Amino acid sequence: NRKRMAMAPELRIMDDPPELAREAADLFVWLAEQAVETTGQCRLALSGGSTPKLLYAELAGPAFRSRLDWTGLEFYFGDERCVPPDHPESNFALAEKDLFRPLKVEATRIFRMPGEVADPERGADHYAALLRRQFQASPPAVPVFDIILLGLGADGHTASLFPESDTLRESSRLVRPAVSPQGVRQRLTLTLPVLNQARTVLFLVSGAAKARAVAAVLEDHAAKDTQWPARLVRPAKGRLVWILDRPAASELAVARQGIVSHEE
Ligand code: 6PG
Repeated sequence: NRKRMAMAPELRIMDDPPELAREAADLFVWLAEQAVETTGQCRLALSGGSTPKLLYAELAGPAFRSRLDWTGLEFYFGDERCVPPDHPESNFALAEKDLFRPLKVEATRIFRMPGEVADPERGADHYAALLRRQFQASPPAVPVFDIILLGLGADGHTASLFPESDTLRESSRLVRPAVSPQGVRQRLTLTLPVLNQARTVLFLVSGAAKARAVAAVLEDHAAKDTQWPARLVRPAKGRLVWILDRPAASELAVARQGIVSHEE
């Protein structure tokens, strides 16, 4: 049977980081409300790095905190650095400080990746087993997240799927150890089969430093998928939304020609 074509990415180019944060929070809350309304819950994976801080501040702020019954959400992670959960480089620690604590999310609805486990292979297997249990998804089924938040590295990586790494070819394991070329080396990451099963994948990308990677991922048809791993995130049936600020979009032809604009 003809391989289903993934849906084209939806592109939203905002003027600046504050507008990106508002747009992302608005879409996030809408998607979460839809999931809770249709299935009674919303299971989402948070990304790491610093861009999510923009979204967390907005969600925990006065405009959004009361927009959602947060008790229907379960929080997972797309990747984690192999450090303790209170380490300044921990993706969980950032979410705990900027999102979970301000919104009083109960610990029973937070499922962090065990980055502190000495052997990353064991940590990966532990989290994969947790996902299979929580999603009632035994092999070959793959857990279907309602929302997966992703960022983009200047080298085109996303989650902890780095250029030319063998984790890009993983077709059955849900979680793998990974090695980052920068920062905290040892990571745990969801694999592409999980990312591409999501109902909605939401990339948030801010800043001119990412402009080259954004163009390579979204427009450069000659770019190699394994060199720019975010190109491999193409949800089979789900929505793919990129919310960029103007600096991050500055090398996109569509941005230069003013084709994509954000109606108020
Ligand atoms: C991580 C992230 C990673 C991040 C990009 C962008 O653990 O570092 O998951 O994929 O999203 O590196 O990072 P910034 O948002 O800090 O630019």
